[in-house]
Amino acid sequence: MRSPHKLLILLAIAILALGAIPAAASVQPVHAAHAIVVSVHNLASQVGVDIMQAGGNAVDAAVATGFALAVVHPPAGNIGGGGFMLIRMADGKTHFLDYREMAPAAATRDMYLDAQGNVIPGASEIGYKAIGVPGSVAGMVYAEQKYGRLTLKQVMAPAIQLAHEGYSLTWQEANDMHDRHLAEFPESRCVFQRNGDYYKQGEIFRQPDLARTLQRIADKPDDFYHGALARELAEAMQKGGGLMTAADLAHYQVKEREPVHGTYRGYEVISAPPPSSGGAVLIEMLNILEGYDLGKMGERSAQSIHYTIEAFRRAFFDRAEFMGDPDFAKIPVAQLIDKKYAAAWQETIDPEHATPSKDLKRPAIFSELEQYAAAHPPAQPPPESNHTTHYSVMDADGNAVAVTTTINDWFGSRVTAEGLGFLLNDEMDDFSSKPGVPNSDGLIQSSTNAIGPGKRPLSSMTPTIVVRDGKTVMVLGSPGSSKIITTVANVLMGVVDYGMNIQEAVDAPRFHNQWMPDLVNVEKWFSLDTVNLLQHMGYNVQVGLRYGANTSSYWSDAECIAVDAKTGDRLGASDVRDGGKAVGY
Ligand code: DON
Repeated sequence: MRSPHKLLILLAIAILALGAIPAAASVQPVHAAHAIVVSVHNLASQVGVDIMQAGGNAVDAAVATGFALAVVHPPAGNIGGGGFMLIRMADGKTHFLDYREMAPAAATRDMYLDAQGNVIPGASEIGYKAIGVPGSVAGMVYAEQKYGRLTLKQVMAPAIQLAHEGYSLTWQEANDMHDRHLAEFPESRCVFQRNGDYYKQGEIFRQPDLARTLQRIADKPDDFYHGALARELAEAMQKGGGLMTAADLAHYQVKEREPVHGTYRGYEVISAPPPSSGGAVLIEMLNILEGYDLGKMGERSAQSIHYTIEAFRRAFFDRAEFMGDPDFAKIPVAQLIDKKYAAAWQETIDPEHATPSKDLKRPAIFSELEQYAAAHPPAQPPPESNHTTHYSVMDADGNAVAVTTTINDWFGSRVTAEGLGFLLNDEMDDFSSKPGVPNSDGLIQSSTNAIGPGKRPLSSMTPTIVVRDGKTVMVLGSPGSSKIITTVANVLMGVVDYGMNIQEAVDAPRFHNQWMPDLVNVEKWFSLDTVNLLQHMGYNVQVGLRYGANTSSYWSDAECIAVDAKTGDRLGASDVRDGGKAVGY
């Protein structure tokens, strides 16, 4: 045993050691006086910044970064998937571009069920039948032509160069390409696995087929949906047994939609409308939380987590019931984000105990919600993974862009279009294969999100812009499927409720609840004491996220911007959990 004398010496050493830490040591975002791009890849962020320094605005930079991510981040960056772009120009005008994938015309409601009516595991995730008609090219071209300052050729040039000349792979990137499902498709095995001679850390990864495809898009953007490229893509899909045809590509449309607007403690929150559930669910959560002084309860205290989880649970309960493609059903967003509805939900929260998800009863204050719920029993939502990507951009004039884009799973359907060099999505998995049965993310969804020709599957992507006194103060977003919405909420509350800087808010430990399964997931950084307190309140706490036999200790990848209120500096926060980068000037 140590003597008291020795303990005193040890204490003195510890105090001296602590004294050596600079008083100002803290987690700081990247500061940029003019403009910034925050994305999962340093090369893609740099491309966006270069474009702004060459005279482009935030939209030019976002499009350039998007095409660059399709080259340097093939597991999620894409031209074979879809996404949402939220733009807020410096004059306050907002635009929301929906370039989500659409189900092919031949898609049917029961296409992923076996003869007994059971969901065929993996059928909506791996291979040609999982593929939705991609919208990314249409969306990015539309954004560039309508809201950019430069030409498509200019903003695509860096991506073409990166595909042609290649880039050096990190250990993680090389390792990711070992994905066993990629090996099931000869073209993917050839492009990403060099037919079994796997790429190693530090090797240059060149993608000549993708470079050619990108060049063809830059030269003739219409070709992807209406020309030779469309025909080649459709032929490759048909050959593999997929549903997508040239006619499906020709019918693809980008939709400009009105973003969802809410307020939270004096901030205006602008976010994604259906077919994303993200914005409405985020605002519903925040409306409920406005009734509680979270800051006073303390950051990550069991009490503040309790109220936050109860808000998450209620908003996800509504997600399961009401959300789907607004072109096929009237989604009652106005009622869901009404502050009166949130006040009624607050009445149902027990200050000391968890509410079991199965016992939730929707407040009966809007007849529209009751009628709708009676007609559409909620379906189980699917479990989701971490494989999408978000990037945030702000230019020197104050224009801001938040983009979340996806091919759904890591490397999407794992199908590479023959000769064209790019991966196709498995976005069909975001439909409810069988209303009531959870999807790959454990999410339950109603028949509103059943498969139908030409329909867009329900998303959780939540590109968000936060405004104060008429000025953009934050640009937020993340991958993470259902966790996207709670990640964005956690980051936003970090800044607004807990006074964190944007980097601290992005890095702070996350927690998640999505109504069903009735679990609270907490990242590994949480203390056992907090977990115990939550368990005493009645929560079923799971440390990390379990996917079958695997557990992931951390999740999501928030790539965010805040604006320094005093100096106007753009503050970039790339998530500590991934290898991203904020680059500015
Ligand atoms: O649109 C969606 O909500 C999903 N397809 C996003 C997938 C995702 O974020 C996967 N990983 N994190």
